[in-house]
This record gives sequence, C-alpha cells and structure tokens, in this order.
Amino acid sequence: MRNGFSTQGGTANQLDVFRSRSVGADTTTSERRPCTSQDTTQQRWFRSSLDHPVRYHRSIERFKPFIKGNLVSEERTFLSPANLARQGAQEQRTLPPLRIAIFGFGTVGSSVARILVESKPEGLELTHVYNRNVARKRVDWVPSSVVWSEDFEAVLASDVDVVVELVGGLDPAGSWLRRTLDAGKSAVTANKKLIAYQGVELERLAAAKGGHLKYGAAVAGGIPVIPGLEQGLAGDRIERMQGILNGTCNFILSKMEAGAEFATVLATAQAKGYAEADPLEDVGGFDARAKLAILMRLALRVVVDPDEIVPQSITAVTAVDFSYARDLGCTIRQVARAEERDGTVAATVGPMLVDRNSPMAWSRGMENMVILTGHYGGDVVFSGHGAGGHPTAVAVVSDLMALAHGSRRVPIPSVPARIGAEFEVPHYIRFLVIDRPGIVAEITSALAKERINIRAIVQKPGYPQHALPFVVTVEPCKSSALKRALESIGEREFLLEKPLDLQMLE
Ligand SMILES: NC(=O)c1ccc[n+]([C@@H]2O[C@H](COP(=O)([O-])OP(=O)(O)OC[C@H]3O[C@@H](n4cnc5c(N)ncnc54)[C@H](OP(=O)(O)O)[C@@H]3O)[C@@H](O)[C@H]2O)c1
Repeated sequence: MRNGFSTQGGTANQLDVFRSRSVGADTTTSERRPCTSQDTTQQRWFRSSLDHPVRYHRSIERFKPFIKGNLVSEERTFLSPANLARQGAQEQRTLPPLRIAIFGFGTVGSSVARILVESKPEGLELTHVYNRNVARKRVDWVPSSVVWSEDFEAVLASDVDVVVELVGGLDPAGSWLRRTLDAGKSAVTANKKLIAYQGVELERLAAAKGGHLKYGAAVAGGIPVIPGLEQGLAGDRIERMQGILNGTCNFILSKMEAGAEFATVLATAQAKGYAEADPLEDVGGFDARAKLAILMRLALRVVVDPDEIVPQSITAVTAVDFSYARDLGCTIRQVARAEERDGTVAATVGPMLVDRNSPMAWSRGMENMVILTGHYGGDVVFSGHGAGGHPTAVAVVSDLMALAHGSRRVPIPSVPARIGAEFEVPHYIRFLVIDRPGIVAEITSALAKERINIRAIVQKPGYPQHALPFVVTVEPCKSSALKRALESIGEREFLLEKPLDLQMLE
C-alpha cells in the first residue's frame, strides 16, 4: 500500500517521464542505435524514420539533401498509407488558413500573437485583436493587416473562424464564448475557471453548432497533460492523479524549503509577476482545485462541482514545518489529488508532505507536475514549466494547429459525480503550545478515541517553552476522524494556534 491505495502502476522509479519521449528517441529493436542528443534534427528524423515506415516516406520528402544518393524507391515505402498521408497533407495546404481573433492582449494573448506572427504556423492567420481600450495595446510587430478592435459584436460578425479567449474569469468571457460557439465558430481558451465551471455546457454547445472548443492551455499548459489525456492516454482507465498544478505555490514553497519566509517569497513572487496582487486564488488553493476538476473530467471521467473540493491554504505553513518535514525525510508542496474507487470519488488540494526522493519534491520554482496512474499503463509523469506567457501560448497555438489540421478531440464520456470518499493517508500534525506537563497525554487520548494510531512524536530542541512547536504523525486515517479528534483538542488552553494538519504522501 502507498498513500492508502494500491500501487498497481509501479513505484516512482518505474515512472515513464513524458518529457523524455522526444521525437526519434523511440527505437523498436535493440540493434538500432537510439538517437542521441548529439544527433542533428535531420539525423534524428531519419533514424526514427527507419523504425516507422509510414514516416519514412515523409522523411524522404523533407530531407532529400541529407539522404541524397540513398533514395529508396517509393514502392518500398508502404505506398498506400504514405501516399494517402501525402495526399491529405497536400489537400490541407490548399485550404484557406483559419482566421484567428485573439480576445485579451495581456500576458498570454500577446505571447500567442508573437508565436503566430514570428513562427507563422501553417494554416493559421491572425486577423483580429480584441481588448478594452485597445489603442494602448497596439504593437508594431503585429502585421498592419490585423484589425485592433474594442467592439466584440464587430469581431464576432466578421469572418473570423476561431476566437481565442485569453481574458480570464467567468464573465464576460463565458458569454463571449457562448456567443462564439452559438455562431458555429470554434473557440480556444486558457481559462481554467470557465472550463472548470462551464466546460461541459460549452462543449455541448460547440458540438450542437458544429464548432470546436479546445482548452489544452487551461491546466499546466506548458506540459501537454490535456492533449496527453485526450489522445495518448485515452485508451487507459486512469484511476488516480496527483499533481502540482499551481506554479505560484510551488515557487513559494520551494523557496521556503531553501529557508525563505512566506511573506518575503510572496512579495518576490508578486514583484516577478508570478503572483497576483490578491494572491488568494493561488495560495488558497482555488486555482489548483479548478484545474483538478478539469483533469478529473478527462482522467477519471467524472464531472464534479469544483466547489465541493475544499482547498487548504498554504499560508499556515511555516519554516518550522519545513524543518520538521526535513527530519521526517520529506518536504512540503501544494498537491492536488483525486482518485476514483468503487464508484466513489475523493479529491483534495492543499499543502502536503512529500518524500524528498519522490518526483513531487523534484518540482521546484514555477514548475508543474502531474502523475497519472492508469489501470493498464501504470504511472505517467508530465513535468516542466506549466504556466507563464510563452509556455501557455505554446499550448494555445498547438490547439489552433490541431483545429487547422483537422485533428479532433477523442470524445471522452463523463458522468456527474459527488465527492463522496476520503483519502486514508498518514498525517502530520504540528502543535504550537505553551508547555506544561500532560499535553501529550491529552492529545494521544483524543486521537485514541477516534481509533487513530500514533506513528511518531517529534520535538526538536531549541524552541522556548512559551511557544513550543512539536509534531505528531499518525498512521493512515480518515481526515474526518482526525478533524473530530483535533476539534476536541481545539479548546485546550495550552494551544497557541489551531494545529496544522497536513496529509503525507508516501
Ligand atoms: N499568465 C499565465 O501564466 C497563465 C497560465 C495559464 C492560463 N492562463 C489563463 O490565461 C488567461 C489570460 O491570462 P493572462 O495572464 O494573459 O491575463 P492578463 O495578462 O491579465 O491579460 C488579460 C487581458 O484581457 C484584457 N481584458 C480583461 N478584461 C477585459 C474585458 N472585460 N474586456 C476586454 N478586455 C479585457 C486585459 O486588458 P487590460 O490590460 O485592460 O486589463 C488584458 O489585456 C486567463 O484565463 C488565465 O487564467 C494564464
């Protein structure tokens, strides 16, 4: 048992790291030399093409100079599928490009425009930028053909094919997307809040009106977890997921791990633009729970009301907790996790103790990480820079490219569900007390009443008796039982503050 549930998927050491699956790294027989980082892109393409006959033909088309003198006749290259693929690609090229309107020219919106203008992805043309008071947003690197507008009706009535919503929030973004989809156009968004609360309704509308809705950037956009779930993992049955979904919290907690104080790191995060002036959405866990709800729909295939997931803030975590966590072989991260067991769903978001040697502990700074456990495929890890203007924009542009090239989402059915189960995991409880004899006895008796077994009691030296922190760790138990025990202790005069209860991931 691990984390209170079975580990069919294997251990952390057996994880498939998604980011290691680079093009050309997949050799299928032992005698073929795997690609190395020293190979040029052309060499990697060519080498991987040897393993994949359908791709072989394409590689000949793309890299004729590299293999000149060694051309292989087309007859040897699985003519039918290759020719079909080529024919398809040629037909695609003759289609007019998708006309794109960006709504919201802020951090992500301007990054999306930058990629569309600089990289000119085939089949995509930026035609409109919509923002309030748009005149102040104009930049000289956007082609003069692009219309800058603050008139939503005019943009919607124009011949744009896709609205890219990068404004954020539920309103007016939600009504704009409904109007867009209702008009039979498609939409791409990075708006996790909107998708968490209204995604199902918007997807239904898109399907009814013949458009498409894509939101690969809404959760950890820089690491393709949503496309991964929609395609590469669609054939599995995901039973469990856990992840670091909020870069701001990860930045704060990993800096605190290195010795900084919460308030100082938060100020740094705000100065760097990593945290909002009002940080509640991030540090309170609300941002992560919206993302968790979206992933639960795609991974566990359940539609839950995000408000049913009660988040725990990271603000109560102090340097003392990092010090005790270190002694327990752990560190602290904000973790969002969910699992489906026997038809019931458990989900939670909050600061948790994670093993210092686990993948979660490797994730530092603004990085995101998602670990999905499939019934058939075991564990898969997605990790990297999840948020920020450019990484998020990459996900948005990838969605646009998928639309332009006709690759549709695999429909993933989902059913409404309530959060009806609890995780049974070990807990870390930190008390801050005015020391006196008998405190430990009172705490252990309250825990025993709820049939909770103590694992360890840890008290580090060097703290004053009038404000003494110490830690009790307990064996796997239900959060509700522990909550009752802590409530019964909560009135005691020796407590200087509410005990801090953190789940421990093992
Ligand atoms: N930033 C990230 O790293 C990141 C990562 C993943 C997902 N996202 C999501 O991406 C979306 C955009 O985020 P962002 O960071 O780019 O936000 P942002 O920098 O605040 O940009 C939002 C833009 O929308 C404009 N806007 C806001 N309300 C408007 C309204 N009522 N009418 C017209 N224009 C309006 C803003 O104009 P003003 O300049 O006038 O305010 C601004 O230009 C959000 O849904 C966010 O959750 C962001």
